[in-house]
Amino acid sequence: MSATAQTSADRPAPPLPPDPARLLAATGVHKAYQRWRWPRPRRVPVLMGADLSLERGEVVGLVGENGSGKTTLMRILVGDLAADAGTVQLTGTLGYCPQQPVVYPRLTCDEHFELFGGAYRMTAARLHEARLALYEELGFERFAATRADQLSGGTLAKLNLGLALLPDPDILLLDEPYAGFDWDTYQKFWGLVAQRRARGRSVLIVSHFIADQQRFDRIVTLREGRAWSV
Ligand SMILES: Nc1ncnc2c1ncn2[C@@H]1O[C@H](COP(=O)(O)OP(=O)(O)OP(=O)(O)O)[C@@H](O)[C@H]1O
Ligand SMILES: [Mg+2]
Repeated sequence: MSATAQTSADRPAPPLPPDPARLLAATGVHKAYQRWRWPRPRRVPVLMGADLSLERGEVVGLVGENGSGKTTLMRILVGDLAADAGTVQLTGTLGYCPQQPVVYPRLTCDEHFELFGGAYRMTAARLHEARLALYEELGFERFAATRADQLSGGTLAKLNLGLALLPDPDILLLDEPYAGFDWDTYQKFWGLVAQRRARGRSVLIVSHFIADQQRFDRIVTLREGRAWSV
């Protein structure tokens, strides 16, 4: 997949020059939400010129305090939310693990994989292989036939992550993927990330704080609407 989302700006930031190693480049991203502030609605800015890039094979952490705009930026990167201004350029396929799992309560884990595998146009053989590997790697095979509305929070988080990983995308955007994981699953998560990075996949991980700094190639902080290198 190759996608380019572009919006007008008063002073648009120039797109970064082409670089085959760069899979994602967001430049000058602005976003404000409308909120009621007496006596009338006002637009409250969240992102004010955020820049972010992701190279092939890079694992980048995106941190910032609650409400700093991490999820807003992620949603703009995947095209789920329109920016007010700025440019987003993506090269390759994309997997997105949203902060709030988007699942169908009455469908089982197996049925979710079938549904998403169909949407990703995976062959039956590839889907079967990828699904079994994810059950094994994240340790939730015994819940294959359990409905999403009967899963624990941690197992639901595994399903949410598994659906993003299913097609083995070039770029993985993960919004607090390990918030509900136990220690063993947290370790397995990093094993999955390391495997993908070794194959040249790129991973952007949102977190409130970075416990294991050495696991990241770079850490970026969102503050005052902009992204800063740490
Ligand atoms: N749909 C919306 N409408 C209005 N305001 C919103 C909306 N979504 C987010 N906001 C506001 O934008 C700001 C940034 O929210 P966002 O969810 O992007 O932050 P975050 O960094 O992901 O926070 P957290 O660490 O709590 O997940 C917050 O002040 C939030 O209240
Ligand atoms: Mg968030």
